[in-house]
Amino acid sequence: MRAAVLVGHGGPDQLVVREVADPVLGPGDVCVEVTAAAVNNTDIWTREGAYGPNPEHPTGWLGLPIECPRIQGGDAAGLVRAVGDGVDATLVGRRVLVDPAEYDAPGPDATPVRILGSERDGGFAERLVVPVGQVHDVTDSPLDDGELAALPIAAGTAMGMLDRAHVGSGDTVVVTGASGGVGMAAVQLAAALGGRVIAVSSAGKGPVLRDAGAADVVDRAAPDLHRRVADLAPGGVDVVVDVVGGDGFGEWVGVLRRHGRIVVAGAIAGPHVTIDLRALYLEQRRIIGSTMHTRAQFERLVDLARRGSVRPVVAARLPLEEIHEALRLLRAGDAIGKIVLLPPAGV
Ligand SMILES: NC(=O)c1ccc[n+]([C@@H]2O[C@H](COP(=O)([O-])OP(=O)(O)OC[C@H]3O[C@@H](n4cnc5c(N)ncnc54)[C@H](OP(=O)(O)O)[C@@H]3O)[C@@H](O)[C@H]2O)c1
Repeated sequence: MRAAVLVGHGGPDQLVVREVADPVLGPGDVCVEVTAAAVNNTDIWTREGAYGPNPEHPTGWLGLPIECPRIQGGDAAGLVRAVGDGVDATLVGRRVLVDPAEYDAPGPDATPVRILGSERDGGFAERLVVPVGQVHDVTDSPLDDGELAALPIAAGTAMGMLDRAHVGSGDTVVVTGASGGVGMAAVQLAAALGGRVIAVSSAGKGPVLRDAGAADVVDRAAPDLHRRVADLAPGGVDVVVDVVGGDGFGEWVGVLRRHGRIVVAGAIAGPHVTIDLRALYLEQRRIIGSTMHTRAQFERLVDLARRGSVRPVVAARLPLEEIHEALRLLRAGDAIGKIVLLPPAGV
């Protein structure tokens, strides 16, 4: 089958589209014919080995080098074509969304420890084999396969952030990086949960963000960004959903109401930040670290997808063979919405 294979850490030349052997179906597994697979920053960071503190020692997200060759791709949707021993055969032919995570324990609140495309072969391929517990039947969802594939990592991460920060109806929620994959999903999901969303983004993206559910959109380049956001929430903001970090991070603390929360899952503007701790502890505010989702959070997302209550924006759909162009578009940051790859079955 055709697949996009990481042959080592480094630049785009380390990702090669080529013929590989079909994945082997074991007991308890399902084989999914991939019809759509979305790209994420993690595909680039994993290839570059950019997760560690030392560029001389490239690592994946677990702090270890990735074992290559590795088929990349954490986001996949498709059709079940075969099942292994012990798996209900009526799953064959069902349309499924694949949870990219394997967890450290059974149960709804376990932590992801292995991710598709990183510790296990992923979805940038014609076929993918995963344990049956990682597939969710979405046959009747009104979303098309590209929209479904756009969900797992970005919207799963957003769902994890909102849940860990206890976002609920009536909350005022600031979302940074709001035009990106995680940010846009956070805007949509927070609005769907009944929150009032203030989106922070570069200029010109207001109409799309308002369509996604933002009540207000603030230009991230405004010199008085934090004061402008504070003016929009006179009683203080309940939650800041942040994937940006960088120089502006510390000022978000002062924008929160007493007992308000910042939940952080990314650091696209830089991982080292400065905070006035007095603003944190005197007002009993909290900073919450969040990575990906739990089984329960993913189920919640799948449930919304089944009902069409969340609908990701897809900016582009390209054949799998054009993965380098897809990753270039992602890195350029001009496209609003997810970029989806179509293996031969999805074209
Ligand atoms: N922990 C996890 O589980 C997890 C999962 C997924 C992603 N992430 C991380 O979360 C971050 C966002 O991921 P993503 O997939 O949403 O990325 P993305 O699609 O590239 O979106 C990031 C957005 O941030 C904004 N941005 C870019 N550079 C910025 C800067 N210097 N200052 C302020 N805003 C900036 C851009 O929007 P505007 O130009 O419109 O502002 C961009 O659309 C990344 O760091 C990623 O590695 C973490």
